[in-house]
Amino acid sequence: MNEDKQTAIVTGAGSGIGRAIAVRFLRGGWNVLAVEQSSETLESLLKQESAGSALAGIQCDVTDPAAGTTIFDACQASFGPPNCLVNNAGKGNAKEASQTSDADFEFFIDLNLGSVFRLSRAAVDRLAPQGSVVNIASVFGMTGFRGSAPYSAAKAGVIGLTRQMAADYGRRGIRFNAVAPGITVTAGTADRIQTNEWLLKAMVGTAPLGRLGQPEDIAEAVFFLASPAASYISSVVLPVDGGWTGTHYYPDL
Ligand SMILES: NC(=O)c1ccc[n+]([C@@H]2O[C@H](COP(=O)([O-])OP(=O)(O)OC[C@H]3O[C@@H](n4cnc5c(N)ncnc54)[C@H](O)[C@@H]3O)[C@@H](O)[C@H]2O)c1
Repeated sequence: MNEDKQTAIVTGAGSGIGRAIAVRFLRGGWNVLAVEQSSETLESLLKQESAGSALAGIQCDVTDPAAGTTIFDACQASFGPPNCLVNNAGKGNAKEASQTSDADFEFFIDLNLGSVFRLSRAAVDRLAPQGSVVNIASVFGMTGFRGSAPYSAAKAGVIGLTRQMAADYGRRGIRFNAVAPGITVTAGTADRIQTNEWLLKAMVGTAPLGRLGQPEDIAEAVFFLASPAASYISSVVLPVDGGWTGTHYYPDL
């Protein structure tokens, strides 16, 4: 165990944005506890990044009510108390409210917001001094967009929770920030990106920078917010979206 190094917990670290975040922390010299429900993607990450003792993994569903204790105990055993928790595990849905059942609503709210609340609450007492939490929200939590009712509601909730916990725990030295990705190429979006021309027009065509996000774009922002370089930054919601939320950009005008 090397307790001098900084340590990050990254949920949903097996693929997509979470995997890029885990790799960015490792490249930055941090220890990483990768939390993942899929044994397959967890094993593939552990295999790819097995050099040294800086990476440990735990198979865990973040919606399990005991996940907070399980995850922070695992981090303590591998690396000591973490300096950062990244709440990344989450999943979108592409249905509007009238097509969303109560069960679907509850599922997406619990996965995308409930688990973030429970893990953040656990982090308050278990982070190392001057630790921080970085939540992965979404541009869909910042602005209305067609067809993602419970997901957007949950991500808006993540933004509110981030700001509220920043207010409650700043005096204890804990920073809470959020990153709001725009549409980013991952396994979770690959189908829609390939088959939905309308989505690409609406999200890439109207973004000033005019390209899809890559997981590494998001990982850089998360790493910055977790790092000592951001030690005076708390309660921010940082869109990483090619300028999509901050503008009304119409390429044909
Ligand atoms: N990709 C995008 O365009 C985009 C845009 C905005 C926000 N986001 C957010 O970024 C985060 C990551 O998205 P992604 O596109 O990389 O998704 P992804 O599906 O590619 O990867 C998500 C990972 O989380 C894991 N996971 C899912 N549910 C879990 C659970 N209950 N417990 C533990 N692990 C779980 C999955 O197994 C998977 O490895 C999500 O919170 C998502 O809402 C993504």
